[in-house]
Order: sequence, then C-alpha cells, then structure tokens
Amino acid sequence: MAHTKFHYPTLEDLKTEAEGLNAFLPLAEKTDCLFTPLSLGGRTVENRIAFQPMEGTDGTSTGAPGELTARRYHRFAQAGPGLIWFEAVATLPQARASAHQLWLTDENVDAFKRLLDDMRETSLKENGYAPLIVMQSTNSGRYSKPRGVPEPLIAYHCPPLEDTPLPDDRIVTDDDLKRFEDAYAAAARLCQQAGFDGMDVKCCHRYLACELLSAYTRPGEYGGSYENRTRFLKNCYRAARSEITRQGFFLTSRLNVYDGFAYPYGFGVREGAGLAVDLQEPIRLIGELKAAFDIPLINVTMGNPYKNPHVNRPYDHGNYVPDEHPLTGLDRMMRGVSEIQHALPDLPVLGSAFSYPRQHAGHLAAGMIDGGHCAMAGFGRMAFADPEFIHDLRRFGRMDEKKACVTCGGCAALLRAGTPAGCVVRDREVYRL
Ligand SMILES: Cc1cc2nc3c(=O)[nH]c(=O)nc-3n(C[C@H](O)[C@H](O)[C@H](O)COP(=O)(O)O)c2cc1C
Repeated sequence: MAHTKFHYPTLEDLKTEAEGLNAFLPLAEKTDCLFTPLSLGGRTVENRIAFQPMEGTDGTSTGAPGELTARRYHRFAQAGPGLIWFEAVATLPQARASAHQLWLTDENVDAFKRLLDDMRETSLKENGYAPLIVMQSTNSGRYSKPRGVPEPLIAYHCPPLEDTPLPDDRIVTDDDLKRFEDAYAAAARLCQQAGFDGMDVKCCHRYLACELLSAYTRPGEYGGSYENRTRFLKNCYRAARSEITRQGFFLTSRLNVYDGFAYPYGFGVREGAGLAVDLQEPIRLIGELKAAFDIPLINVTMGNPYKNPHVNRPYDHGNYVPDEHPLTGLDRMMRGVSEIQHALPDLPVLGSAFSYPRQHAGHLAAGMIDGGHCAMAGFGRMAFADPEFIHDLRRFGRMDEKKACVTCGGCAALLRAGTPAGCVVRDREVYRL
C-alpha cells in the first residue's frame, strides 16, 4: 500500500477514513474524561494523560542529567500530565544506548534528585499538583552503544535483525545475565534515593529484557520455554524488590506485547500465522507480574523502533516508508491495548502511540478511556512538540493544530544520530536536523 499522508482537517474526516479501513479508533467528541483522577498504587493521579519515556541523548558523559535534560523535564512538569514516565536510564555503563544516555549512579544521584525536586515544585506551582514520576531502568542489549558505536549484547541470533550475523561472542552468557539482573537492585536503591515514585523494569522495543521474551532458540535457563524466556525479567524484579525500603515505592514495566516479527523471533506473535497478534503470553506475563510483584499499572507498547518503527509509532514522513497505512498501525496498537485492559480489568493499563492523530489525538485518548479500553493515554512525540497541549484540552476541549506533532520522525533521527533529541518543527530554536 502507498504511503498515506495525514489529510484529516476535521475529526469527521479522521473518523471516515478509520471506518473505511475498519480501524478501531474510538474517537470521542468530548475530552473531559481525561481530567478525571485515577487511583494508582495508593496514590491519586490527577488526570489520565501520561508522558511516555522519551530519551533525550542529552546526559553528561557520566550519565547525569544535562542542561537540555533539565529543560525538557521542566517543560513536561509545567504542562501538568498526571504521570511522567521518565526516559530510559541505563543500569550499567556497557548497557547504555549512547554515550549520552542517562545512567544513575551513586555519584550523580543528587543531580537526579534536584531534577525531580524542580519537576514537582514546577508542577505544584503551575498546576496545583505534582505528577507521579516513574523511572525507566534499562539494559540496551542489542542496541548498546556506550561509546557511540555498536557494542551489542544479544540474547540470541535474530535473523530479521542481523543482515550479517553478529559474532557469536556477542551473545550474553547465563552468567552475564545474572550479573545484569543484580544491577537492577542497585538501580532500585538509587531510584528511591533520587525520589522517583516507582521504577519500570523496561521490557520493550527489543532491548535486552524484551529480546529474551522471544529467545525461543536460546539454549539453557533463559531460552526456549515460557518460564525460561521470562526468567530474566522476573529475576530483575526480584533483585529490584530486594532493595525496596520506601513505603509506596512500586515496580512496573513498559512491556512489548507484540514485536511484529514472524514467530519464532517475535513475542506476542501467533505461531504459524505470519505476523498475526497473539496476546496469550503477554496477558499471562502481566498477570504474573501483578500477582508476584504487585505492579499498580502496566505500560503497553509494541514493535521495534529500529526494524519496524511504524509499529511503535505510526508516522507520515521520512526515509523509511512502511507498507502499512498509519491508521492500520494505530488500529493494531489500540486493539492490543484494549485487549490487555479487558483481560486484566483490575490493572490500569497505560496505552501508547497517541501522537499520530495530531490535533485529534486528545479525542482518541478520550475515546479509549471513556470506552474502558485503557486507564491512561501516553504521549511521546507530542510531548516533545507541544507539552502544553494538556492546557488546551483542559480549557477548550481540543488541541491546537498549529502546535501539534506532525510525526515527521525528526526527533527519532536526532536520537539515532546520538545527538540531543527534541522537536525539529515546534522547538526549532533548540533542535535542528
Ligand atoms: C526520540 C524518541 C525517544 C524515545 N525514547 C524512549 C525511551 O526512552 N523509552 C521508551 O520506552 N520508549 C521511547 N520512545 C518511544 C516513545 O515512548 C513512544 O512509544 C513512541 O514515540 C510512540 O508514541 P507517540 O505516538 O505518542 O509518539 C522514544 C521515541 C522517540 C521518537
């Protein structure tokens, strides 16, 4: 199918196109439901809008927040989302996705604390409440680039991701994995010290924990069976839990429920059915995380931003032209989020990929929440373009077309280049390609 540019000046236009494609896009006229509180893990979140983790590649060489990191989070806090899911922060130096990815250590934990203090103060002053702030802890695995060039730590050879097979010694051993698990204990300790409300054991977008979920071909304790493939994630939780000392501090995950590669290399993919979505294992896993680790919410996502970025973030422009209508990608994400929420009605689900509909995005968020398809709506690229869209939604019930994200892929291009990432269209004085 040809690449389809955004051409929906009105909400009606978007609805008509979605109906024509039989796409599941519940678009609500009214957006008031976004401003109802939600109880999460003993806390009240003021509204249903979350900012998704967005790596800025703007940390110092030793992993502390830099000036642009502080600017981004100050802007985010000013805007007043109920929840800010802080970007990927490395658990180990060799697991950084770039030389400027954040990495929380004993030496820089105070810098993180100052950043969080500023966020809470700013939001309290501007909005009258502080956001819930969750830190995403990561091991970048296959996509590790701690010195700016690839130094992959892979779970197994994955042919769709290796044009030329990587050397066998890039496969991490079971002992390596055990050491990587231990790093989540230190991460949880530091995360509490910095003042985060909770920690995400990141398990998405084919970074290490996520890749292991599809390690069907890996021998040993971490591959093959469902129990083995989920072992690393659960052991990371166990390690992190062993360091929890602060009342109310919680663990959670941003989880890929669908990778978008054919079985046996993709998680959430039905065996023998091409790329068909099959959420049985993801639902089982989330249920187990809830039962064993009392996660108060789950952040649901899909895809691999390097291989099939349109699955993770439907978009319009750029060099990579997917063979899929962006609304078909959005349909897959919204159906997946809804299926998880309906399978686990007692666990609030945070849905992903709300930026594509531009000025209509708030109506999709409201439709999903009003219809009980998720509890919170997560915005990534839109938060870079115009975090203040929340004020427009609150005041006028709609977003401003002239300020919305145009899903051009510019922020992702900056990230891939290892340079500070932000919006090259709406924040041009700082970010340029
Ligand atoms: C520049 C950039 C940085 C990102 N960084 C992260 C990250 O640190 N962790 C993560 O889980 N997802 C990350 N993502 C994915 C986003 O959180 C989000 O899932 C994606 O952009 C789709 O949501 P959207 O349509 O609202 O943009 C990033 C995406 C972009 C474009």
